[in-house]
Amino acid sequence: MYKETGSEGMRILILSRNASLYSTQSLISAAIKRGHQIQVADHLMCNLIIEKGNPQLYVGLDPIGPVDAVIPRIGASATEYGAAVIRQIEAMGIFTSVSSEALLKARNKLHCMQLLSQAGLDIPKSGISGGDLCAGLVYEQISHEKAVVKLLSSTQGLGVILTQSKNQGISIIEGFHRVGQDVMIQEFVSDAKGSDIRAFVVDGEIVGSMIRQAVPGEFRSNIHRGASAFMVELTDQERHAAITASKLLGLSIAGVDILRSSRGPLILEVNASPGLEGIEGTTKADIAGKIISYIERHVNK
Ligand SMILES: Nc1ncnc2c1ncn2[C@@H]1O[C@H](COP(=O)(O)OP(=O)(O)OP(=O)(O)O)[C@@H](O)[C@H]1O
Ligand SMILES: [Mg+2]
Repeated sequence: MYKETGSEGMRILILSRNASLYSTQSLISAAIKRGHQIQVADHLMCNLIIEKGNPQLYVGLDPIGPVDAVIPRIGASATEYGAAVIRQIEAMGIFTSVSSEALLKARNKLHCMQLLSQAGLDIPKSGISGGDLCAGLVYEQISHEKAVVKLLSSTQGLGVILTQSKNQGISIIEGFHRVGQDVMIQEFVSDAKGSDIRAFVVDGEIVGSMIRQAVPGEFRSNIHRGASAFMVELTDQERHAAITASKLLGLSIAGVDILRSSRGPLILEVNASPGLEGIEGTTKADIAGKIISYIERHVNK
């Protein structure tokens, strides 16, 4: 149900599996502070009725009622259904802060890498083989010793492996293929020294940035793997790369992950539903407020 604010504002619906998550709470307070009404719904509890000229969306048994804008916070485990819910919202003519198309594009790591590199943005050199037979050939194109072997479905650094040799790499790839998982082979960017940059983009502007540093002996800088985060000033090249990447994928809100290398910034990933806890905690910036302001600008147009 909407939390009443007592003043005229937008009616905003947040799609989130759990209303008590930091990011959801932060968006709720930013919206209420600006005089909007806010409702949270679990996208997996949303039901879609599809018929000629009359798309409908229910939360459980209730039709969603009048909504001015939707902020989807769709996790990696619910991408497909989440995208279907967003498509329904688009069909109903309601503003959404991420389109179904952009969400699906960003969630496909391989597609993302292809688009970024085609647009002239630099990435760690990456490859994939159609099966076991050519895994060695692809590995050799990337490296003759160390490489990063990565599950296409990895999250929180799980399924991201630093291999020491081609033979070791191939064994791991064969193992993943046996359990039906696709993997990518990627150039190991040792210059990054176990760190990566998160640039948070809202509406074509950098609104916060941090550097994450892995614990000693670890190359993965995921907070879930124990990494620490610090504020960082981005170079002009990094700002440009982050803004261009989010535009390219059609994302107005994006968390762009970058590795610093001797040949310049290498884009690792563009996150379509970036968390707010790390970036707000590290930078003390009101990122949720920037997101709500962006929605105000677009809904009022
Ligand atoms: N090619 C690479 N060279 C050096 N370090 C890498 C490379 N790829 C990944 N890493 C390190 O491993 C971490 C995890 O990798 P990545 O972000 O690709 O996967 P993930 O975190 O599991 O996926 P997601 O970000 O979608 O949750 C990165 O943050 C980075 O620190
Ligand atoms: Mg990551």
